[in-house]
Amino acid sequence: MKTINLTAFLLNFSKLIDQVHSVYHLQHVQVAYICLRLAEAIGLSEDAKMSLLYGALLRDLGVLSLRERHSLHQTDLPSQLQHSRFASVLLSRYAPFQSVAVLIENHHRSFQDTDSYSDEERLLINILFFSDILVRRITKSQTLRSVLPDMKDLIHSSPTFFHPAVTHAFLALSIQDAFWFSLEKIVVEPALLSLIPRLDGVALDEFAKLSETIQYFVDFRSEFTILHSSGVTAVAEKLAVLKGCSAEDCLKVRVAGHLHDLGKFATPAEVLEKPVQLSIDEFALVKAHPFFTHVALKDVKGLEVISEIAGYHHERLSGTGYPYGLSAKDLRIEARIMAVADVFAAITEERPYRDARSGEVAVQILEGKAAEGKLDAEIVGLVARHLKDLCDYKNEQLQPVQDLYHELMTNLIFS
Ligand SMILES: [Fe+2]
Ligand SMILES: [Fe+2]
Ligand SMILES: [Fe+2]
Repeated sequence: MKTINLTAFLLNFSKLIDQVHSVYHLQHVQVAYICLRLAEAIGLSEDAKMSLLYGALLRDLGVLSLRERHSLHQTDLPSQLQHSRFASVLLSRYAPFQSVAVLIENHHRSFQDTDSYSDEERLLINILFFSDILVRRITKSQTLRSVLPDMKDLIHSSPTFFHPAVTHAFLALSIQDAFWFSLEKIVVEPALLSLIPRLDGVALDEFAKLSETIQYFVDFRSEFTILHSSGVTAVAEKLAVLKGCSAEDCLKVRVAGHLHDLGKFATPAEVLEKPVQLSIDEFALVKAHPFFTHVALKDVKGLEVISEIAGYHHERLSGTGYPYGLSAKDLRIEARIMAVADVFAAITEERPYRDARSGEVAVQILEGKAAEGKLDAEIVGLVARHLKDLCDYKNEQLQPVQDLYHELMTNLIFS
């Protein structure tokens, strides 16, 4: 059963990526809106529109730091293209997103630089390339429409940048006031929704393949968290099996493990990696991440339970957790498992301000928190009794992730 609304999830995810700085709020949604208006004007198929939509919503998913985002924002043809390569290599691991990965890989390439692709691919790439440039200019300008003379200059001075069908469609659209007004942040999301030709549904096991890929984007933003979501997922999944959860609930735990720190996209990597004590504002930003995880997932059809398992991982049975200050009665067993797995994984990982600690030390700390009424004592008991199994399983799961990270960093990104 295709119960999960993939389209709604990707829309929320794109908003989270843009939460990192107020300048970029809803920028991916604006790009998606322009792409679909151009696609409609050109008369593209439904499938082509859906590829464009997903390419637009995820185009800068591979940007690791706020510094990188600011520098990409400065120019039409950035020379540093690690972010597009990084995103396309990781996204193409999810088979249904092969065509989306091609769009993202090339979203900063002008029309003349894409001649190795088919005619249809070149057209879609160019729609995204054009929309990206337009939105960057809009973000920098006082009023939306004031970018039009600049865009016309660019079209005339750089005829090899754009596909003729794209410039033709844009010039026709640019005459309408409503095209420009629809890009205002207060209306752009409903305006986009009205253009989306269909909502794609996926089954939970299919979604688990995508969430596995997404966790790498979450974790690889900081050297200190490369293995974090993979480690949390391995421990949580094992604990769910030991606790006797059903196969479907174990799969939900798996997906929630992948996505539990998704909200960290709203935190600049510079803050996540800071080796010294955080300021009050920076600490507040970090502390907001489970809230943003929950918000990104809770309204997506099919992810209601997963949003709780993932979004409540910093809540405590005693009511002393965050962001909602929930207590035992509100926390389902899978959310309690996630809280324990998250603490266990975090303690056994290196951090900017301390070394990794052993599984035995982690158990001691977990037992202390269970004694204080914060973590579920039964789950902590399972960790203590199955420590070796849990550590072996976790290490086995982490090896391929470690290899993937090194392959990406050495061979692909900086070659
Ligand atoms: Fe980009
Ligand atoms: Fe967290
Ligand atoms: Fe975490």
